[in-house]
Amino acid sequence: MHGGFDRRQLLAGMGLLAATPLWAQRMPPKIRAFPFTLGVAAGDPDPTGFVIWTRLVPEPGEPLSGLEPFPYPLRWEVAEDEGFSRIAAAGETLARPELGFSAHVTVSGLRPERPYHYRFRSGDMLSATGRARTMPLAGADVRQVRLAVGGCQEYQGGLYTAWGDVAKADVDAIFHYGDYIYEGGPVASRMNWSTGQMESTVRLHDGPMIFSLDDYRRRYTLTRRDEDLQAAHASAAFLCSFDDHELVNNWVGDVDQAETPAEVFRLRRQAAMQAWYEFMPVRADALPVNGVSGPYRQYRFGRLLDARMLNTRNWRTDQPCGDKYGSFCPEVNRKDAEVLGRQQEEWLVKGLKADPARWNALLQQIMVMDLDRARAETKTINTDSWAAYAVPRDRLLDGLKGVPNLVVLTGDEHQHFAGEVRKTGEAPEAPARAIEFVTTSISSGSDGPGERKEHAAFLSRNPGLKYIRDERGYSLMTVTPDGWTADLKVVDSIRRTGGKVSTAASWRVPAGVARLERAG
Ligand SMILES: [Fe+2]
Repeated sequence: MHGGFDRRQLLAGMGLLAATPLWAQRMPPKIRAFPFTLGVAAGDPDPTGFVIWTRLVPEPGEPLSGLEPFPYPLRWEVAEDEGFSRIAAAGETLARPELGFSAHVTVSGLRPERPYHYRFRSGDMLSATGRARTMPLAGADVRQVRLAVGGCQEYQGGLYTAWGDVAKADVDAIFHYGDYIYEGGPVASRMNWSTGQMESTVRLHDGPMIFSLDDYRRRYTLTRRDEDLQAAHASAAFLCSFDDHELVNNWVGDVDQAETPAEVFRLRRQAAMQAWYEFMPVRADALPVNGVSGPYRQYRFGRLLDARMLNTRNWRTDQPCGDKYGSFCPEVNRKDAEVLGRQQEEWLVKGLKADPARWNALLQQIMVMDLDRARAETKTINTDSWAAYAVPRDRLLDGLKGVPNLVVLTGDEHQHFAGEVRKTGEAPEAPARAIEFVTTSISSGSDGPGERKEHAAFLSRNPGLKYIRDERGYSLMTVTPDGWTADLKVVDSIRRTGGKVSTAASWRVPAGVARLERAG
């Protein structure tokens, strides 16, 4: 402080000081309304704990959500029982205005492979209770892991009935492959691409295309008020990644599709990634630095499963062929193309080779199978998938050769797919390198017909692809030493409440060979 400078006198002289200024009070004023309107969440588990999350939103829509510009103290508790009589850990944290009054607590010191319950308290107001399991120790002999997989949840696409079902599944963890929000403005009606029919939107975004931190916060708040989504978060720890729509359609690195100057694009990315961090139950290392939130992570379920969550956006080279879906061009074979970037790729390949588990999984966003999208006589591809990056794709598959029982979990496509992964040009009779399960969207695209008339031709054009279904839902993975079973779940309608969830198909991968067997 400068000598002789008295801030109180100065402010009083300016007429800004009636009593003790708010910023000088030690405690923030009492919160007027129930602040835990967005529920609670847990994520990023390890053998000693996980992150627990909440956000104070007493009055959504009001400036600062009805709060004053203070860090608000919050009490948190983790217990072994639902009644919170056996407290395992407890403490106090601050919900800071800089982070939109979100709170992330990294809980540690818990016992491995155990269920826990957690909650927050502000004054006499208590949050909902969430559940999360700690991971097994790295060397543990684990007999089973159950993972739910979901993502692509455009709020305007329809209801989150699938998340309500995930909440009842009691899984070990939930992999969110991204597209948690979508950036677009409200659309009252639009074409359903599956059926070709115009349909009205069942619920609308509450503002135009989003750009600023406040815009992104508002979109997450709208999304997170959904009760089915809150129930899923409260049911198990999430493994959170992001794809493109957390920022804008098909961005990679410093580039969006509108060719916005990189230095301007990076400002939007900074806003988007801060909001993503604020709303996700992720560790402190996911706090964006210069707009990049880039952790890729290992989730090790003992000796049974090594799951590696990847970031396929931040270090990828721009999509080839003008990013035109269903096209093909020589740039697909560019030698200097990257998907993961060399650092992440090395971490993945070296890590899995050095100490593989019985099953080894890539948890990521874009399809690895290089499917022929069948829009022309010659092969065409999805340019926003691994198929558009032949050199790094083949290098990755070569690098992972010898890693046993490799399974890829993917999203983005808004349909269920199950198929075999091979290198570019490998014959369909050649042994597959991996099995890939692409999980359909929670809501994006609205109701689908299940089977589309072009599916049969699509399957025969892509012999490695064994299954495709166009309907909203999620998937449930059950991993045991003998096999990996994928239950592909679908909802009969997300345009009305009470939609019925069923298993459209179950596929099993036997340990030892990359092959899909129909199991139901
Ligand atoms: Fe999506």
